[in-house]
Amino acid sequence: MITTVTLNASIDKAYTVNGKMKNGTVMRVAACRNSAGGKGLNVARIIKLCGAEVKATGFVGGYNGKYLEHLLDEDQIAHDFTEVQGETRSCINILNEEFKSTEYLEPGCRVEPEEEKLFLEHFPQLIAGSSVVTISGSIPEGIQQDIYGKLIQIADSMSIPVILDTSGELLKNGLKHKPAMVKPNRDELEILLNKKIEDSRDILEAAEELQRSGIRYVVISLGGDGAVMVCDEGVFRTQAPKLEAVNTVGCGDSMVGAFAVAMEKGMKPEEMLKFASAVASANAMSPHTGDFDPAVFHRLFAEIIVEKAAI
Ligand SMILES: Nc1ncnc2c1ncn2[C@@H]1O[C@H](COP(=O)(O)OP(=O)(O)OP(=O)(O)O)[C@@H](O)[C@H]1O
Ligand SMILES: [Mg+2]
Repeated sequence: MITTVTLNASIDKAYTVNGKMKNGTVMRVAACRNSAGGKGLNVARIIKLCGAEVKATGFVGGYNGKYLEHLLDEDQIAHDFTEVQGETRSCINILNEEFKSTEYLEPGCRVEPEEEKLFLEHFPQLIAGSSVVTISGSIPEGIQQDIYGKLIQIADSMSIPVILDTSGELLKNGLKHKPAMVKPNRDELEILLNKKIEDSRDILEAAEELQRSGIRYVVISLGGDGAVMVCDEGVFRTQAPKLEAVNTVGCGDSMVGAFAVAMEKGMKPEEMLKFASAVASANAMSPHTGDFDPAVFHRLFAEIIVEKAAI
């Protein structure tokens, strides 16, 4: 069982708008697709698609919270959320030929200190029996900036590895507690180190430094350029397969979900990277976030080569 943590969940609404977008007028929506959103829920869907057992947790509230749980039920994803007084937010993504994707993200409701305390108290019970915990994305207003550190400490005390995928201060704070894996992309790495990453040498140096600080697996994802992984066993690199991407949003989340599955299965580092890269690239071929076609995955998996670099 893998547990995914999504503290800032949302109802994601994808609106398809045909023709020219005109501000200040009434626009008709041709199609609307609602899904349980938030990076950790993309991770959960991928884990389920990989055939592993998953449970989603975090905060939900109000009617939107109930709807989010219903959407997860439809996807047959088990969940155990802490209920809060506020209403779960909605996020709107307008898909249009001219502008591709335009997102409107609600700020989300405030989570009160007592609600955070309840979640933290329940966390050991929530993750008991899990082989891996993933923590993804941002946190709602009201939550302490060091919450991810606290969650990592709890998981650590239960010998459960954590994959942390977040950014900015949350990543910086979380790293102090040594999660088993981090997967920053290039931008997140630059913000973390507060310096420009110019070339692959900079990426490797940064990854090695993070790994030496006590992170077991450091993966730097590079979008269409593939990924680099540094661990005790060595440095592993992979090029992403060349493909006509349909929607690359959530490719990183897909990679995290696949890494969690790979970790649960006890794969070797190079197998982990190959598997996670194939799932992530297959997600780029699906119009939906946190989704892939198994046939596409198998084709890409056969194509992907992982190289071990000399250290
Ligand atoms: N255009 C692409 N073609 C092929 N593979 C891709 C492409 N974009 C992403 N991928 C795959 O997905 C992985 C993760 O992508 P990326 O670095 O964009 O993650 P991210 O920025 O964290 O994404 P997100 O946060 O939206 O989930 C890459 O390492 C690669 O394997
Ligand atoms: Mg990401």
